[in-house]
Amino acid sequence: MTETDILLRCYAVQGLVAEAGRIALDYFSRKESLGVTMKGTQDWLTVADGIVETYLRTRLAELFPDDTLIGEEGGGDASDAVWIIDPIDGTANFARGDRNWCISIGFLHERVPTIGIIAAPALDELYVARRGHGATLNGQRIAVSGNDDIRRAYVELGWSARTPAQRYLDVMGRAYAAGCSVKRSGSGALGLCHVANGRTDAYAEPHINAWDVAAGLVIVAEAGGWANDFFAGDGISTGNPILCCTPALAPQLRDITGIG
Ligand code: IPD
Ligand code: CA
Repeated sequence: MTETDILLRCYAVQGLVAEAGRIALDYFSRKESLGVTMKGTQDWLTVADGIVETYLRTRLAELFPDDTLIGEEGGGDASDAVWIIDPIDGTANFARGDRNWCISIGFLHERVPTIGIIAAPALDELYVARRGHGATLNGQRIAVSGNDDIRRAYVELGWSARTPAQRYLDVMGRAYAAGCSVKRSGSGALGLCHVANGRTDAYAEPHINAWDVAAGLVIVAEAGGWANDFFAGDGISTGNPILCCTPALAPQLRDITGIG
């Protein structure tokens, strides 16, 4: 695959995510249309998740028939040219009327995270990154905060019921003890974007799935951030722990989180 093939994919997906965002926003504005169900403990699903994923699957298959796709709702297979998508990340926020949700589309070329597009339509924010070409928010270059002092670090700690509560609480306890300010905002994908633009200094979660981070990892790397090797082992199909942060905070945060 040439650099032009990658550039073509990056542009094409920006068009698709704009339309996907309009579809999702329409559901978001009509709460009665959401058809909320639960897949498990705190694992929310709305009608919009399936509709947005089907739209993206159909359009990507038309445009790039040889690529494969893995989606949160419909699964799929990895290949040397694979899209990894989360139709709505932060579904609990979406279902409750909180604007902190997004559509996340990542592309891995030969297992390397290469394109990351994350749209947060209710916030009017579009993050775009292409490997080797920087990261932008609404067209403006972004960079990590550069913070090197753990005692003023702002850390987002993601949680899901997939992780035993004690593991999460241990990490949180060590983070507070070290002097971090800790928060959770309910979208792992946007959590990574917020490291990339310096709103936070780090995002960590003991287990997260590939569709939550495939796009964000490109955005963080292109904004100058550090991340653990998320796609090591079977990360693409079963997930892994995630830690993204400013490079200077990485050694301490690796100790605190036990990740990386
Ligand atoms: C979840 C969110 C959450 C993270 C979880 C994810 P969903 O995805 O990103 O912030 O902590 O690990 O499963 O269910 O909103 O698509
Ligand atoms: Ca998700």
